[in-house]
Amino acid sequence: TPYLNTEYIGRKILHFDSIDSTNIKAKEFAQRGEEEGTVIISEEQTKGRGRLGRSWASPKGEGIWMSIILKPNINPMDASKVTQIGAAAVCNSINEMGIDALIKWPNDIVLNRKKVCGILTEMSAELNIINYIVIGIGINANIRKFPEDIKDMATSLKLEIGNTISRKKLVGKILNNFEELYNELVNNNSISKSLNICRKKSILLGNKVKIISRNQEIIGKAIDITNEGELIIETENGKREKLISGEVSVRGL
Ligand code: ATP
Ligand code: BTN
Repeated sequence: TPYLNTEYIGRKILHFDSIDSTNIKAKEFAQRGEEEGTVIISEEQTKGRGRLGRSWASPKGEGIWMSIILKPNINPMDASKVTQIGAAAVCNSINEMGIDALIKWPNDIVLNRKKVCGILTEMSAELNIINYIVIGIGINANIRKFPEDIKDMATSLKLEIGNTISRKKLVGKILNNFEELYNELVNNNSISKSLNICRKKSILLGNKVKIISRNQEIIGKAIDITNEGELIIETENGKREKLISGEVSVRGL
């Protein structure tokens, strides 16, 4: 990748033609001692997975399906911060290509209100020590057609802007941005730069949202994102609630 100027993120990239899922592969490698920063990319995933056990459409040659292996020395409770770092890095990178993408907390990047990217962070930990974290990033770069059931919610950069984007260039930018933002977590145990991006580019803040969590629905206004990366919403009776990313789906209204 000629666009890469990182020290350790993406210095080693393992590129596959077709695998089940880059997250699954990355976890196998991480488990066997692969070092931090290694990136798994595949042209196609036969078992791409999204959050909450959903499947992720990953057609050949048109998307960016990749996972980064991380081994941070942080509390396992803070693992979801990596998702915020990823969202900020991806949004920044798409913006640097001149495209006005926004972030839908906690893990989506949207363009014209439709989803162009999803992030799935997975962790292995024992006794409060993280073995590894894998952050999976799926970007609908040049996809031309989506399955019927998701075509109203999903889109690609190409479908929205009308031309093919360079996947190599975008991957380079994402890894550059990711390393810079991730270094703040590793060195200062802070994600303030990422959160500032997540706040500034949020499609939710200031707006009415519906939260769906374990078959329960709450309607409220999205107020802020805390320094821990939680979403604060204010319900109709004025009560404020903090939401942790792991367990909720958010809908704009
Ligand atoms: P999340 O809960 O992860 O925030 P969501 O349900 O809010 O996601 P939507 O934009 O409402 O996201 O719906 C998109 C649906 O299509 C999701 O269920 C998502 O998992 C699924 N999907 C599968 N493959 C893709 C893809 N390549 N791009 C976008 N969405 C996809
Ligand atoms: C979501 O929005 O639900 C998260 C989608 C994450 C998709 C990416 S594609 C690369 C990596 N491998 C997977 O199987 N999933 C993630």
